[in-house]
Amino acid sequence: MKISVFFTVTAAFLSAEVLNGLPRLFSTSAAQRGVDTFSPFSEKFFLQIIDHFNFNSIRNAKFNQRYLITDKYWDKGSGPIFFYTGNEGDIWDFALNSGFITELAAEQRALVIFAEHRLYGMSLTFGNGSFFPPQVGLLTVEQALADYAFMITELKQQLNASECPVIVFGGSYGGMLSVYMRIRYPNIVAGALAASAPILSTAGLGDPQQFFRDVTADFESVSPKCTDAVRGAFHQLKELAQRQDYARIQSEFSLCERPSSPQDVHQLNGLLRNAFTLMAMLDYPYSTHFMGSLPANPVKVGCDTMLRGADLLTNLRDTAGIVYNSSGLLSCFDLYSLYVECADPTGCGLGFNSLAWDYQACTEVEMYFESNNVTDMFPPMTFTEEERARYCSKRWGVSPRRGWLRMQYWGDALSTASNIIFSNGDLDPWANGGVRHSLSSSLVAINISEGAHHLDLRGSNEADPQSVITARKMEAELIAQWVNTERSRLLKKS
Ligand SMILES: *[C@@H]1O[C@H](CO)[C@@H](O)[C@H](O)[C@H]1NC(C)=O
Ligand SMILES: *[C@@H]1O[C@H](CO)[C@@H](O)[C@H](O)[C@H]1NC(C)=O
Ligand SMILES: *[C@@H]1O[C@H](CO)[C@@H](O)[C@H](O)[C@H]1NC(C)=O
Ligand SMILES: *[C@@H]1O[C@H](CO)[C@@H](O)[C@H](O)[C@H]1NC(C)=O
Ligand SMILES: *[C@@H]1O[C@H](CO)[C@@H](O)[C@H](O)[C@H]1NC(C)=O
Repeated sequence: MKISVFFTVTAAFLSAEVLNGLPRLFSTSAAQRGVDTFSPFSEKFFLQIIDHFNFNSIRNAKFNQRYLITDKYWDKGSGPIFFYTGNEGDIWDFALNSGFITELAAEQRALVIFAEHRLYGMSLTFGNGSFFPPQVGLLTVEQALADYAFMITELKQQLNASECPVIVFGGSYGGMLSVYMRIRYPNIVAGALAASAPILSTAGLGDPQQFFRDVTADFESVSPKCTDAVRGAFHQLKELAQRQDYARIQSEFSLCERPSSPQDVHQLNGLLRNAFTLMAMLDYPYSTHFMGSLPANPVKVGCDTMLRGADLLTNLRDTAGIVYNSSGLLSCFDLYSLYVECADPTGCGLGFNSLAWDYQACTEVEMYFESNNVTDMFPPMTFTEEERARYCSKRWGVSPRRGWLRMQYWGDALSTASNIIFSNGDLDPWANGGVRHSLSSSLVAINISEGAHHLDLRGSNEADPQSVITARKMEAELIAQWVNTERSRLLKKS
């Protein structure tokens, strides 16, 4: 679930001495990447409590939490508040890739706020020390939710918005947070749109084969020849590795350095698998600049590339290039800087955000996804409870607590919750880790048949399939209903 800016950050930045540079590096990332999307937002900082749950540890010490806000569409003092519960990345990336929320705000006269998650982007609790124990221990889902609850409450007061209903929005892990906000703080949040939120698989209620099976299914649906070609290429790579023909592996894959161990080959397999993951997740019908740059319909482009010539290894290299070499400027693939293995088998992204996500994947968020070359087209790569525990202990000195997220946020026992939309795109490998069936009239599952990872949150586009247009319309109607109900409740109170 990596959300990170590819190519702008290299592994060199991971060294501790560069940690200083983080906030500034990311401060203008959207602009630097030449995103020409018109943005109505202004960037602000909120003085946030560092530790909500211990009045002694650091008293009421505060940090600057970044948020983006626009009142351009707001019916001041009475229109609703649409609040995006930021996830694992720079908040501008989400704001610039979630145009639906501003479009809906224009329709429903809402104030829009995008809040950045602690320890991502510029929202660091202890500056460059945020990522080291023991400070990193303050990176928890519970603290993040408390940040949002406190921020909403304070901003409502500052903006004279006490009677304005709040709806939370989020995609992916952000969608998980929006579900959790509604069930943890129903006093503050009237409803949630959780787009592509894998709340079940990340709470230990998943099938470890599900994720890469669904990635494979996307490519299979373009053509079984495509998945055959991928299997064939990985088979050839395996044979070269068995013969320890590292020179040939280096030349076939244009690697900067010659691999020299099974570990290097494992890393290469991981890097390659990750390219397919990203193409499947971001299989949008138009080109995008979100988590890197991708062409329209990348799964189709990937399959075309896999079937382009007779040399399967060249095809595989070029298919990986769709993700890692979108700029066309890469002269060789650097195994350890383009992809970083971590506690999330679907990738943590790169740069500082990836450190924070790795820590979360080592503590509360469970992701035991494996590939096996039977139910999927990838080389066998396991990620078991033992492997996770070993890695997390070594990397962060922590032991994952299995079942904690499920205990805290109800797992699949959600039937007494209310006012949550669970939307999922059928093309998204995260979808089947989420809620796919409506649980009541106000716990509504929406399927988007031609949708990839939270396509519904994106702004409308000429290339949108009918399924996402219909989904957005249903979402708009439910949200309008919840806003009305909440408004009468708030008015009665005052
Ligand atoms: C963090 O920043 C402080 C002050 O700016 C500096 O003295 C220290 O060396 C930095 N530490 C790391 C690990 O970068
Ligand atoms: C909120 O109301 C107070 C008192 O009426 C007023 O002074 C203040 O300017 C208002 N703030 C905003 C942001 O509208
Ligand atoms: C990256 O793309 C460019 C342009 O297509 C190509 O010339 C170059 O060989 C590619 N780099 C790698 C490592 O494949
Ligand atoms: C996948 O399974 C096939 C059939 O058993 C085998 O020939 C191939 O080498 C396997 N590929 C990998 C990468 O392990
Ligand atoms: C969504 O799709 C899933 C998987 O195909 C299916 O089981 C489920 O019934 C569908 N849910 C809705 C609400 O249509």
